[in-house]
Amino acid sequence: MPIVSAKEMLKTAREQGYAVGQFNINNLEWTKAILLTAQEQQSPVILGVSEGAGKYMAGYKTVVAMVREMIDFYGITVPVAIHLDHGSFEGAKAAMEAGFSSVMFDGSHYDIEENIAKTKEIVALATPLGISVEAEVGGIGGEEDGVIGNGEIADPEECRQIAQLGISMLAAGIGNIHGTYPENWAGLSMDVLKEIGETTNNIPLVLHGGTGIPDAMVKEAISYGVSKINVNTEAQLVFAAATRKYIEANLDLKGKGFDPRKLLKPGADAIAAVVKEKMDLFGSSHKA
Ligand code: 13P
Repeated sequence: MPIVSAKEMLKTAREQGYAVGQFNINNLEWTKAILLTAQEQQSPVILGVSEGAGKYMAGYKTVVAMVREMIDFYGITVPVAIHLDHGSFEGAKAAMEAGFSSVMFDGSHYDIEENIAKTKEIVALATPLGISVEAEVGGIGGEEDGVIGNGEIADPEECRQIAQLGISMLAAGIGNIHGTYPENWAGLSMDVLKEIGETTNNIPLVLHGGTGIPDAMVKEAISYGVSKINVNTEAQLVFAAATRKYIEANLDLKGKGFDPRKLLKPGADAIAAVVKEKMDLFGSSHKA
């Protein structure tokens, strides 16, 4: 299966009451672990690429080529979208030009008029190319690529306006936070999410900050229209922990244990386990 836009997979997910995972990638090992797990689980998947990760991986074109060739090499048949995560206006345009099948334009830090105007421009460029667009209303809390958001609760009326612009999916701040959640976290604002779900014409909703949300809350959010859930920090944490464990057990710093393939394997395996668990929780396993 070629790389596809996220539009159809999320429309189906919304109709059938499950969510597709967006898992962020940082290198070849993460990408491979996620793609092979999606294939094993027979699940559609969205590969998230932040602007920082895009730069790290030698640019958007390199990312597209790597994913495309990996799909071919491993015979991946499940739908795969390559999605720009929290794109700026210029970043979204660059990712589209490079062959991304999906982009997020995050205009949540602009006032609503400017967010609408810029989102419209991105939609106008994306739609003829069959590229899906995610818009955002109400910032997500925590840190993402060095940008600290305050974590707002989106205004359902603003969500209604943005949802009408021809976007494929809408991220709305509902008290969710990137990174781990603090002990005193108030939880997701389910009332607001429910209202947004009712006022946005069945558009697939996106839940950012998928690390550390209790399973029951995830399922409730899906029941109100969340059809895409982003997970990044949890993969980073298990990757770091597994790599550290391997180093402590095997690396003597005198030339032993340096095989880079062996060094990165436990971390990649740990990411694969997280991806599998999330696909089962979100209900996307066996839906490809
Ligand atoms: P976490 O890092 O909290 O899993 O959130 C990921 C995310 O929302 C990426 O946009």
